[in-house]
Amino acid sequence: MYDNYNRHINYLRISVTDRCNLRCVYCMPAEGVNILSHSDILTFEEILQVSKTAISMGVDKIRITGGEPLVRKGIVDLVEMLAQLPGLNDLSMTTNGVLLSKYARPLKEAGLHRVNISLDTLNEVKYTSITRGGKLSDVLEGIQAAREAGFHPIKINCVVQRSSDEADAGDVAAWCKKQGLEIRFIHEMSLTEGHFSVVEGGSGGDCSSCNRLRLTANGKIMPCLFSGIEYDVRALGAENAIRMAIENKPACGSTNMSGAFYNIGG
Ligand code: 5AD
Ligand code: SF4
Repeated sequence: MYDNYNRHINYLRISVTDRCNLRCVYCMPAEGVNILSHSDILTFEEILQVSKTAISMGVDKIRITGGEPLVRKGIVDLVEMLAQLPGLNDLSMTTNGVLLSKYARPLKEAGLHRVNISLDTLNEVKYTSITRGGKLSDVLEGIQAAREAGFHPIKINCVVQRSSDEADAGDVAAWCKKQGLEIRFIHEMSLTEGHFSVVEGGSGGDCSSCNRLRLTANGKIMPCLFSGIEYDVRALGAENAIRMAIENKPACGSTNMSGAFYNIGG
C-alpha cells in the first residue's frame, strides 16, 4: 500500500517482547520499566495473523525486535513460522547478541535471513556500564556464532552520542572492518524531545522515504516512532489497524510522549 505521501509501505518491524536481559542507559530508564503483563503480549498466532495481513497489503520485509527478541520463549518457532509465509522476501532480527551463541544456528536453520547486533564499544568496562551489567564477551561470542552459522551480511548497530568520530565508535568500526562486518552508527535519540536523526549507513530516519510500520509487543500498529499514533490490532482487527496506520502515517515525525524503545522496538 501507498500512504498519503506516496511512500510505499513494505516494511514491518515487530517487537515480540518489551523485556530485555540488558538495561542500556539510553534505552531503559534507571528506575526500571513497567513490564507488560502476559495477557497484553500478542501470542504467536496473533503475530502471524498480523504478519499475514500485512503481507497481503504489500509488506514484504519483516524485522523482529524487542526489547530483546531472544528472551521471548519459543522465538525460534516464531521465526520458523514467519519464514514460511509466502510473499515475505526478507526476514531479519535486531538483537543485543548476548544469547546468540546459543541461538544463531537454530535461527539460521529456522529460516532467519539476517541479523543486526548492537555493539557500542569494545571496552569491557564501558560495555558493562552502558548496558548496566552486560558482559562484552557474551556479545563477541554471539557475533562469532552468527558468522559460523552463515549469516551474511551481519550488521553492527553502534549507538553514538554525537558522531561516528567518537573513540569507541572508531574502535568498533576498525574491528568490524577487520572482521568483515557492516557497521551502522545510530545517533542517540530521545523520543520525548523529538531528537531523531538519520542512521549513518542505514535507511532509517529519512521521513520522506520512510517505508515502515511497527507492531508493538502489546499489539499496536504505529505508523511512526516519533508520533503517539497507534492502532490496536485486537480492538480493530489487523486489517483495519494497518490501513488506519498507513492512512495516518505522518509526513514527518515530531515527538512521542507515550512510548520508549524497549516497548516499540528501536
Ligand atoms: N537512541 C538510539 N538508539 C537506541 N536504541 C535503543 N535506545 C536508543 C536510543 N535512545 C537502539 C539500540 C539497538 C536498537 C535495538 O535500538 O542501541 O541498536
Ligand atoms: Fe535491551 Fe536493546 Fe534496550 Fe539495550 S538497547 S536495554 S539491549 S532493548
